[in-house]
Amino acid sequence: MRTRLTNIAQLVAVPPGPVSGPTLSCPPIFRDAALVIEDAKIAWFGSATDAPQGPYDKTIDVTGGTVVPGLIDCHTHTVFAGSREEEFVRKIGGAGYLEILEAGGGIRSTMRAVRAASVEQLVAASLPRLQRMLASGTTTVEIKSGYGLSPEEEIKMLRAVRAVGERLPIEVVPTYLAAHALPPEFDGRPDAYIAAVTEDALLRRIADEKLAEFADVFTERGAFTVEQSRRFLEACARHGLVPKVHAEQITQSGATQLAVELGAASADHLECVDDSDIAALKASRTIPVLLPGCTFFLGTPAAPARKLIDAGLPVALATDCNPGSSMIESLPLVMSIACTMLKMTPVECLVACTANAAAALKRQHRIGAIAVGHQADLLILDVTNVNAWPYRVGVQAVRTVIKQGRVLQT
Ligand code: NIG
Ligand code: FE
Repeated sequence: MRTRLTNIAQLVAVPPGPVSGPTLSCPPIFRDAALVIEDAKIAWFGSATDAPQGPYDKTIDVTGGTVVPGLIDCHTHTVFAGSREEEFVRKIGGAGYLEILEAGGGIRSTMRAVRAASVEQLVAASLPRLQRMLASGTTTVEIKSGYGLSPEEEIKMLRAVRAVGERLPIEVVPTYLAAHALPPEFDGRPDAYIAAVTEDALLRRIADEKLAEFADVFTERGAFTVEQSRRFLEACARHGLVPKVHAEQITQSGATQLAVELGAASADHLECVDDSDIAALKASRTIPVLLPGCTFFLGTPAAPARKLIDAGLPVALATDCNPGSSMIESLPLVMSIACTMLKMTPVECLVACTANAAAALKRQHRIGAIAVGHQADLLILDVTNVNAWPYRVGVQAVRTVIKQGRVLQT
């Protein structure tokens, strides 16, 4: 099967990640371009005048739109039950995120809803969110557990994560986040909880059934210390789960240094990083993932994106879609927020949501780029250039989603 895309006003040829420095700010851009897909992969792209001769099985006329790689949301908590709009209103009235968590709300409130739901109910609650993500351009999504908070309930969540991936043409990457918050039955006994969720038989089961690829931890005051996080991630790594860390979101805890030390795939949040954290990231392969949806949703300080980019780091962006700190499903909206609040350019945002997000999920060799041999996950946008995409805040600009060379009905 050979398909060509013609009449592309602008083709942003994002190279495979991780992308940093001048290429992050100025990736190759072709005007009046064409692209050829062969059997689910990109076979050729460039100026329309140089396009290879047919025959083609199918031609898609892009009619002056823009073509970019499919977006990759590399940090989400999209599978959950219940809703927390009450908290949203309390936060407007001045309540703090950690204050709500300490009073038994927040993550624990979603935990209660998740424990009360069956796998099927979790799937039913989450599928519409995933469908909307796909329609707004997300072709790959990472989804964490972390609201079950007991061995059996975490496994239940991971089964629901797998099930949503089987029902939609979106690639789902599962992450084991048992170290998200302390459940009430372990109050005052965090070490015993870490021991329970890192039991050998449990981790072997997760690994054998391929229920998770990554392990993640919330290292924060009111959640887990650096030492507890280390114990959790090291045990998971012994079973092949690659570490990720929720680092320096509300306070500076040393979690970024831990992520680097453990060779984590990513250190996420980073609102409170200091210069030594940036230096540590610079000397590592750990991808810094920024989540400006939280800044927007909680009204908390922004991560120093410019400082990280200027230090030469391959910054990635994600929605952090979750019911407490970022009830945001749309990566294009996150790109708009990153433009205005983090001072990233639209093109930097695009690279951050594609090539660098792929690197945060260790998939940079297959997705996240417009490169020959890469999977044909592509978006056709109803804009003549990429700057116009985040500029039109909240406007649906994704006309067509192509996944593995196939046009999806979204
Ligand atoms: O990434 N920081 C911890 N976890 C989520 C919030 C989860 C929740 O409030 O339900 C986050 O912000
Ligand atoms: Fe998160």
